[in-house]
Amino acid sequence: MPSFEEIEDAQRATWAMCSTGWAKWDQVISDQLGPVGDAIIDSLDIRDDQQHLDIASGSGEPGLSVAQLAPAGRVVLTDLAPEMLDIAQQRADRQGITNIRTKVCSADDLPFDDATFDSVSVRFGYMFFPDMAKATSEFARVLKPGGRVCSSVWIRPEANPWTTIPMQAIAAETALPPPDPDGPSMYRCAAAGSVSALYEAAGLCDVTDWEVDVVLTTDSAEQYWEVVSEHVSSAVVALEQVDRPTRERIRAGVIAGVRAHEEGGKVRVPGVARCIVGTKPG
Ligand SMILES: C[S@@+](CC[C@H](N)C(=O)[O-])C[C@H]1O[C@@H](n2cnc3c(N)ncnc32)[C@H](O)[C@@H]1O
Repeated sequence: MPSFEEIEDAQRATWAMCSTGWAKWDQVISDQLGPVGDAIIDSLDIRDDQQHLDIASGSGEPGLSVAQLAPAGRVVLTDLAPEMLDIAQQRADRQGITNIRTKVCSADDLPFDDATFDSVSVRFGYMFFPDMAKATSEFARVLKPGGRVCSSVWIRPEANPWTTIPMQAIAAETALPPPDPDGPSMYRCAAAGSVSALYEAAGLCDVTDWEVDVVLTTDSAEQYWEVVSEHVSSAVVALEQVDRPTRERIRAGVIAGVRAHEEGGKVRVPGVARCIVGTKPG
């Protein structure tokens, strides 16, 4: 079992490697994950002067959307990988968003005072934290009494063909080690109630969860391969280790796999996320 420090180092390296893909496919990713960002934001009751913290912000969502809803407020975007936050800052500059700042830090060791923020968001970050319980205690600590945290995770792989199609094509050509149940992986928080239990253990109340559908849409099966092979972290890491002929066979497998999802000149592959909201008592 790697140490927390080794997990963080590996995550930092992985996301540095994926960052070019997140910048290149920004619009496709935004369209896919937008409904989850909207659901998180709806659950947080953002005010004009909201003080908001976005954890594992990556290329900036949902933090940048919160900043637009809170022109008199302030949003801090945090992430372990500076390369991802650079993309967030560039997106903010392009959109003319000035009420944000970025901070490189790990979710389980936040450099903020107690009771600083009205709300916290964590879109698709939880499963990568070395210590998910400590991270949740940190979210509760930096929230003001009555403040809310909302996060999202992926539910079971069978409900997410957008990622299982490429991972099955990779598994058909390589010997992928089974994911460590206690280590970072895309489906580490898939079990119903797993994040709710972390919230409750950290003293959060009124914990509720619900599912949100997403669709990854591309212009063609070939573009689908480019999108997933360049930004899905587990695919990017696995593909780094294969030779060119193997990569070509995996590419062919992914393209064949998504043909069933071609419709009206587009490829649309579905998925399902779970959002979890909780409140700091007080
Ligand atoms: C799937 S991306 C999510 C980005 C963004 N929130 C979104 O939904 O578009 C996951 C992010 O988690 C970050 N991450 C991984 N481990 C982390 C940790 N221990 N603390 C903070 N961020 C972490 C990665 O660097 C990456 O940017």
